[in-house]
Parts: sequence; structure tokens; C-alpha cells
Amino acid sequence: MIPAPSPGQGDDKIISVRNLRFTYEGGVVAITDLSIDIRKGDYVALVGGNGSGKTTFAKNLNGLLRPSSGIVTIRGRDAARTAVPELAKIVGYAFQNPDYQLFCATVEEEVRFGPLNLGYSEDDIRRKVERALDAMNLQHLRDKPPLSLRLGERRRVSIASVIAMDPDIFILDEPTTGLDTEESDMLMQKLQNLNVEGKTIILITHDMRLVSEHAKRVVVMSVGRIILDSDPRGAFSDLEILRRSNLEPPAVTKLAHALKDKGIPADVISPQELVFHLLRGGESR
Ligand SMILES: Nc1ncnc2c1ncn2[C@@H]1O[C@H](COP(=O)(O)OP(=O)(O)O)[C@@H](O)[C@H]1O
Ligand SMILES: [Mg+2]
Repeated sequence: MIPAPSPGQGDDKIISVRNLRFTYEGGVVAITDLSIDIRKGDYVALVGGNGSGKTTFAKNLNGLLRPSSGIVTIRGRDAARTAVPELAKIVGYAFQNPDYQLFCATVEEEVRFGPLNLGYSEDDIRRKVERALDAMNLQHLRDKPPLSLRLGERRRVSIASVIAMDPDIFILDEPTTGLDTEESDMLMQKLQNLNVEGKTIILITHDMRLVSEHAKRVVVMSVGRIILDSDPRGAFSDLEILRRSNLEPPAVTKLAHALKDKGIPADVISPQELVFHLLRGGESR
């Protein structure tokens, strides 16, 4: 079955998933029937309640898990027929829990590990490591044991390890959980820079403020399938879908909804827009 065209469909699609199903050993069906296309350079927020299948889906994109059925195509190649190191060069995945990813004696070794195993030359490795350490502001911590660092720093190390492999696609699994606002905004700015460079970003998060500020596309998952695929404006105006998924719209959108009687539209996603509508006396655009 070919699904209806989605916002991500086009000749430049870098990820194409058809009828993906994934069952864990023991029988939990985590992904039921998922199809999606994602274009190169897209910035997708993947959201949904706990247990909706986000992490399982992400791991099916980079070969950490293999589909039970269905087809995952990455840059035109069937992921099931592509060796994991080959996939890792294209799809980088930063774990939901960074501590599952960190095992080296120093930050520098940790960041070197990926490019070293992908078989790059020593010069290439050195360049990639320095760039990744710079990108995540880790130069001053390069000789420290990763597991001795604070959570925000450990997350930066896990993301630097992904950056060092220079993949086309970055999947970040709840990267801002446990970070303070400053750390989280700094990280989001780095992701934004990667996206501007042409990298495809898939951000798994519960933070709808970050989604409204950064994502170009919002994909909502529920019990192993996609229940909404829209631009952020469309996603946040659908309060019913968000409520069903235990997702809180951004504060500014909730405020706009509360001001509905004053003629403020329901799809406001930034403070600037809300101010604009209030100054216009709430008449519709
Ligand atoms: N290693 C595992 N073994 C068995 N079931 C799992 C495992 N990991 C996740 N699950 C189950 O798969 C479903 C989807 O989980 P997950 O992909 O982690 O969702 P999310 O990332 O959206 O919270 C849940 O029912 C979860 O309990
Ligand atoms: Mg998860």
C-alpha cells in the first residue's frame, strides 16, 4: 500500500518508511503500521506519550533494531540490506539515556570512537573530533572521564560522538531532558546550526516550546502509529490530538486558546504573533 502524499514526500527524500512493524522479543508490538517520508534538510519533531514507540522507531532507522516487517529506505538503500557501520555513517542516533552510549576513559576517546570504527584516516578522525568538541563546547573537558561529568555535559558528549561521525541525519532522543533552560537553548541552537548546514534533524521531545521554536514539521505518534503529521501551526491548533497524546501545547498557544473569545486565532505559536493579534484588537487575520 502506498500512503497518501505527506508533507515530506518528494524526489529529495532521504528517509522512506513503508508499513513498518516492530515486535520486541516477548511479543510487545511497539510499532504497528508506520509509513513516512522525510526530505533532506527537514527538521522533524517526533512527539507522543511515553511508550508510543518513538525510541523504537528511531532505532529502526539506524539499524540498532531491524524491522519485523515493512521497509526502511535510507538515501535510496534498503536499511535491512545495509551493514550497521554503513548506516551509522548516514544516520546518527544520540540515545535517550546518554549513559548507555558512554564507555570510554576520556571525552576525547569517546568522541574518537565512532570515526575510528568507521575506518576514516587519522587526519580525518582528528578533524572530525576537533569539530565535534568545538560544536558542543567540550574542549576544556576533553581529558575528563565522561561518566564523571554533569548530565548536561554527558549529553553534549553523546551528541558530540554523533557529530564526529558526520552523518546526514541526526536523531536526538529527548536530548534536553534534565537540562536547564540555558543548556537546552544552547543545544537547540547547535542543532539549528546543523540543520542550516543541510543536516536532517529528527528531534524526539516532550517540550512543545522547543518544537514550536525549531521544528518545520511535527509528527505525533500514539500506540505505535502516526496520528498526526503537520506543520507546527497545524499541530498546535489540534488540541484534541495533543490531549490524547498527553502533550502540552506551548504556553503561548494555550494563552491564545484562552483568549478565543477576544478573537485571537487558535494557531498562534510565538509570543510575537500573540502580541500582534492583541494589538490589532483580536480581529481575525
Ligand atoms: N527492550 C524492550 N523490550 C520489550 N518491550 C520494549 C522494549 N523497549 C520498549 N518496549 C515497549 O515498546 C513500546 C514502545 O516503547 P518506546 O519505543 O520506548 O516508546 P517511547 O520512546 O515513545 O516512550 C512500549 O510498550 C515499551 O514498553
Ligand atoms: Mg523513548
